[in-house]
Amino acid sequence: MLTDKRILLIIAGGIAAFKSLDLIRRLRERGAWVTPVLTAAGAEFVTPLSVSALAGEKVYTDLFDLTDEADMGHIQLSRSADLVVVAPATADLMAKMANGHANDLASTLLMATDTPVLVAPAMNVRMWEHPACRRNVSTLRGDGVMFVGPNEGDMACGEYGPGRMSEPLEIVAAIETALAEGPLTGRRILVTSGPTHEPIDPVRYIANRSSGAQGTAIARALTTLGADVVFVTGPADADRPEGAHVVEVETAAEMLDAVHSVLPVDAAIFAAAVADWRVASASGSKIKKQAGAIPSLDFAENPDILATVSQMQTGRPPLVVGFAAETDDVIANATAKRLRKQCDWIVANDVSPETGIMGGTENAVTLISDDGAEHWPRMGKDDVAHQLAERIAAALA
Ligand code: CTP
Repeated sequence: MLTDKRILLIIAGGIAAFKSLDLIRRLRERGAWVTPVLTAAGAEFVTPLSVSALAGEKVYTDLFDLTDEADMGHIQLSRSADLVVVAPATADLMAKMANGHANDLASTLLMATDTPVLVAPAMNVRMWEHPACRRNVSTLRGDGVMFVGPNEGDMACGEYGPGRMSEPLEIVAAIETALAEGPLTGRRILVTSGPTHEPIDPVRYIANRSSGAQGTAIARALTTLGADVVFVTGPADADRPEGAHVVEVETAAEMLDAVHSVLPVDAAIFAAAVADWRVASASGSKIKKQAGAIPSLDFAENPDILATVSQMQTGRPPLVVGFAAETDDVIANATAKRLRKQCDWIVANDVSPETGIMGGTENAVTLISDDGAEHWPRMGKDDVAHQLAERIAAALA
């Protein structure tokens, strides 16, 4: 599976760097080519000689090595691999990545690369849990960076908790997953998800009960099949999907702008529960309670993102999939919605409170297309997502 895959392995400065020597060996055993890059701090823990001896390739260590630049420039080096792996990824290198620093070879390669990036963090538990590190992890996830670990356990510094770098074989498994080719490899797919929040004033907003679980599951399933997923989400509770490029928005208007900036795509899946209306004149300051006076809100209609994209004259995605959340006459309403909005498929579901679907873990959907209505049995949202992703792959084949 890894035969002839090219891995650019960046080894940063942490005690876990010794495990990266074994990682190189495991990757080579599986037929992968490993081009190692050692940061200055990394070279304090493992020697360039042992790294290059195990990799069977030259180790790159310094941005300003003119011999290397003549041989292979750092831009070319950053793009020569199928996957960039950072193991161990230190708090410092992750901070550089999250903030776009490029002041040594490793950070410059990470800025210049157009290749997927997998990081295996390794640091003290307090550092991993520090708010600055949490922010950086979330930024990196949003940028589509994949993570493996860290694991929980005893640490070299004597403390216990999450922060230990994953074991070499766990990293190998994550590399195999990241490089897995699927029927959607090379396809770019947009998924909208979650609710939108429409402000009333700076502290109040109108929202809905969508958790974002179904959209997140769909994004994950598409990624598993190899798609390059852009996930545009409102403020949702669900975890963000690993490996997808995440764009966070708040309002329907922001979601529409984000969707426009993501096009063109091969398919667009609109799973978001977009608010139909916004407060026409949201107040810039908090509306104060006044004795006996109850404020009234004026509404304006939000743009219909699904209809806008479905009806694009140029650049319309070849496959546009909408959702129909209904409480009555589900099939009739969803069928009419598909024709009105002009999307290709509608995934209809009954969100009446007694179904427990909105905010729950299961879904019972009907797929409506030109071929008619196809009822799927009630199943977990992950299973709905996988089945839908397989259908999308078949449609784009
Ligand atoms: N949708 C959208 N933009 C909107 C409203 C809805 O993109 N402003 C999309 C949703 O993401 C979903 C589909 O349209 O894919 C249908 O959403 P739904 O809430 O069921 O339908 P509405 O258009 O809001 O119609 P109604 O509320 O009358 O059922």
